[in-house]
Amino acid sequence: MAVRGNVLDIKSLGGSNKNGGGSLTPSVLMICIVAASAGLIFGYDIGISGGVITMEPFLKKFFPSVLLKMHDARQNQYCIFDSQILTAFTSSLYITGLVSSLVAGRVTTATGRKGILIIGGAVFLLGTVLNAVAMDVKMLIFGRLLLGVGIGFTNQAAPIYLSEMAPPKWRGTLNTAFQLFIGAGVILAASINLMAAHVGDIGWRVSLGCAAIPAAIMTVGAMFIPDTPSSLIQRGRVQEARKSLNQVRGVDSDTEAELNEMISHNEAAKADNRQPYKVIFERRHRPQLVLAAAIPSFQQFTGINVVAFYGPVMFRSIGISSDGALIAAIILNVVNATSTLVSTFAVDRFGRRLLFFEAGVQMIACEVALASILASELGTAGTATFSQGASITVLVLMCGLSAAFGWSWGPLTWLVPGEILPMEIRPAGQGIGIACNFLFTFILAQVFATILCHMKYGVFLFYAAWVFIMTVFVALFVPETKGISLESMDTIWQDHWFWNRYVDVEKKYTIPDEELSYLAHQRISLES
Ligand code: BGC
Repeated sequence: MAVRGNVLDIKSLGGSNKNGGGSLTPSVLMICIVAASAGLIFGYDIGISGGVITMEPFLKKFFPSVLLKMHDARQNQYCIFDSQILTAFTSSLYITGLVSSLVAGRVTTATGRKGILIIGGAVFLLGTVLNAVAMDVKMLIFGRLLLGVGIGFTNQAAPIYLSEMAPPKWRGTLNTAFQLFIGAGVILAASINLMAAHVGDIGWRVSLGCAAIPAAIMTVGAMFIPDTPSSLIQRGRVQEARKSLNQVRGVDSDTEAELNEMISHNEAAKADNRQPYKVIFERRHRPQLVLAAAIPSFQQFTGINVVAFYGPVMFRSIGISSDGALIAAIILNVVNATSTLVSTFAVDRFGRRLLFFEAGVQMIACEVALASILASELGTAGTATFSQGASITVLVLMCGLSAAFGWSWGPLTWLVPGEILPMEIRPAGQGIGIACNFLFTFILAQVFATILCHMKYGVFLFYAAWVFIMTVFVALFVPETKGISLESMDTIWQDHWFWNRYVDVEKKYTIPDEELSYLAHQRISLES
């Protein structure tokens, strides 16, 4: 047996956890639903800003120059919404989100995942109040900055929470709930926008203020769920960790082995005693660092937020009425959210890679077709009006794009980084990933209106080229993680053609003496 001194080769303990199982108890389901509802506030926010910026009373109060352009019939349709201050309203949230997701990665060691969810929800609530009562642009943007702080926290914690609570066999399925709730939040927002557009001058206040509803649901819900066993162990609360694990796995299951594996990983990490943000930059963690940063960054290069933020704006630009544009946005979002269910069903059955590949092909096809239709209908001058048939085709193609995103880069961005990162650098890695995601969301949201104005229909070719690059990247560098327990994830690098050069094939962990006999006993029972 691979035991030398107090060093034991975890891999040699057998495949017990390589293809982990575990059943889906009602308790784990409920707990995960509460955590995933963090996606609601993120989704609500994504959906609300796109609609609010098409409301005339809102534009009149905060961005009168955009309103003037909208009423100017000679205006190039591609350029109406090209206003830096207007895009700052949408994208400012991502700046504070970026910083706060990194902070969350640090403070989670003290507060636990649950604490981060509660803090994030509370700050978000404060931001919604400021937004609803905003009197000038400064107040409006300050409110959005607070929303960003909240979302940075909750987006950092919720996916990790879900991955750490879920039984390995169900990890992908449960984790997709986060994206599902993002989708539900977007739909809720788009529907509220549609109603609010008819309540007169205060419609936008209703839209922005209603964000308090999902925020309150999430924050209050988070107070009643247990923290994750890994997080509790990291904070030395072994008894509570045992209780939490029993609660989610069910009393009949043998949770001691899982608990002990977490304890030994934690001991090994503690013996290291270095800052996670330093450790993650070490050569041995290169695969995890690269993928945890690349996947969330690439997600934004699918072009999804062109659809999410500027869907209504795009539809107005091609000549659809205000209500029509909001309805088209709802259709798009329903397609996006329901397609996430495909992922819920498929991710643990067929794996992550297959979803990435299929969606890559579908997105490229839709984007190239969108570029061609915009080119033929609007041309480069952008002053022609769209025929009804062409508007419908645009909507259908955008639905194709949203659907592919909904079962691939949408949910997998929240799943894969959290599952490939070892416990000691998981919060740091997730923080870095979210920060990258927000950085590119910010950059692309900020420049999209300008890109559209200058590249015109070519904007969709730009995204299609990116999706091609990303799909090749997945084929070469993203290993399959389906069904592998978090504690055994190291094995995927050892078997990988490229990443194996960064990891020790004979990975060893230092195990405290008192656990050694337990693990040795486990090995004997596995062998017999
Ligand atoms: C992305 C957002 C996007 C949303 C659309 C999320 O996973 O991070 O940028 O707007 O999905 O549903």
